Amino acid sequence: MALTLDSRFLLLLAAVAAPSYLAALYGPIVRIGPDEIHINDPDYYNEIYAPNTRRRDKSPLWFWMGGSNNFGDNSAFTTLNHDLHRLRRSAVNPHFSKQKVQELEPRVRNHVLHLKKRLLDLAGTDESVDLSQATSALTLDVISDYAFGKAVGALDRPDMAKPWNDMLHAGVKIHPFARTFPTIARNMLRIPAWMMPTNNMKQEVDKFMSILTGMTQSAKDEAPAEKAKSKSGDLSSGHTNVLQAIFNSTLPEEEKTFSRVAGEAMIFVGAGTETTGRTLAVTLYNILANREVHDRLLEEIRTVIPESGSPLPPATQLEQLPYLTAVVQEGLRISHGVAGRLARIAPDEDLNYHGHQIGRGTTVSQSNYLVHTHPKYFPDPFKFQPEHFMGPEGEQARRHLVAFGRGNRACVGLNLAYSELFLTIATLIGTLKMELVHTTARDATIVTEYFIGCLPADSKGIRVRVLGEL
Ligand code: HEM
Repeated sequence: MALTLDSRFLLLLAAVAAPSYLAALYGPIVRIGPDEIHINDPDYYNEIYAPNTRRRDKSPLWFWMGGSNNFGDNSAFTTLNHDLHRLRRSAVNPHFSKQKVQELEPRVRNHVLHLKKRLLDLAGTDESVDLSQATSALTLDVISDYAFGKAVGALDRPDMAKPWNDMLHAGVKIHPFARTFPTIARNMLRIPAWMMPTNNMKQEVDKFMSILTGMTQSAKDEAPAEKAKSKSGDLSSGHTNVLQAIFNSTLPEEEKTFSRVAGEAMIFVGAGTETTGRTLAVTLYNILANREVHDRLLEEIRTVIPESGSPLPPATQLEQLPYLTAVVQEGLRISHGVAGRLARIAPDEDLNYHGHQIGRGTTVSQSNYLVHTHPKYFPDPFKFQPEHFMGPEGEQARRHLVAFGRGNRACVGLNLAYSELFLTIATLIGTLKMELVHTTARDATIVTEYFIGCLPADSKGIRVRVLGEL
């Protein structure tokens, strides 16, 4: 029998710190709420997040958004049922495959070079820039370009779209409350926009939402023409647009309504922006703060980018560099893109954890944060050490890197995220001279969990001054 701790309020505390604290007191398996068991054991991860052949539903205890008309309601991400999720993912998967990401890499590279130019414009001035802001502007442009066929232009804006990123960031803050009081949260989100008080933030939110809605509408309007073109073998547009592909897919008609596809669009933007942007910023901080890591990485990058004017090699070539690869993996580990518990239900099989029988239908969770800081595989877990992932000894660490989740619900955007991480780190470290200003390790440390991991709210960011080209 798992231990019983029967208090609703524990759910609020139970996000990340509590399971780890309770596990220290009671062992790795703890009942953390009336209906949820948490298992803090990296070796049991693949059992909870099993491959496709074994059904896994998402738990409404944690994925509370269904019926809220918001937060990507009806997207694959918020779908609870295993089979419906498979159907929805089938329309999206081919557009995020490794091959597709390679095909569209020129578009990612253009945005990375745009970011480099924006940073270089600051060279020689006293101005510093918050890397979290700059990299989130990059990832917002990349995912909008990829999903809608057109970037929202975050890097073009003088403020690098700070209000839009603040909005995405503010949006996730509802999670701890909503997980505890889902009905109240869902009803709050149904309040019509015109009843909300007007302020600057709301104006920016309205503007952003109207851009996303407009792009989703264009994808719907243009989908039939695109379909006709591809049937006739005309590949002239050469312009993948994931939303159009969903409208043109073989999904049943009720799965292709405007509001359902708009839900997918919202999740692409929400899931693709902050996670990748923050991973980039935290990784860059750790490179710049650690001279040895920086110099070793630069030396390796020089083998493929001999000088800052040299062309940027394709991501596939960068992925062959062992130290850069280890830096990217360690960056993914330490930046906790998704930090919160990921709750699953095995609807038609009992699970067994070292003799503890877990009945089918029970919500079971584990959190990536705890896997990535587990001393068994990551001794000194808060120190940035790419060596964790190097060589044959790095095998255990690689096996327990779960930044993108596992199983049928794993991140659909991981190939795109890897491409962004390799291209951006190689470009910025290989071609720019930057120094950290007024930034300490605390500014780059995840201290709160709102489903995604968040940096300290009172921090001024991961600030760098750009000194010029290398
Ligand atoms: C470093 C960057 C990223 C990290 C750490 C990350 C992490 C994750 C994780 C852990 C999940 C599983 C969540 C769950 O089990 O509920 C997930 C799902 C998802 N991610 Fe990512 N992600 C990243 C980048 C991206 C990008 C670039 C996209 C662009 C499309 C994306 C789109 C999604 C979507 C749509 C889902 C839902 C998949 C589904 O339920 O079918 N992510 N991500």
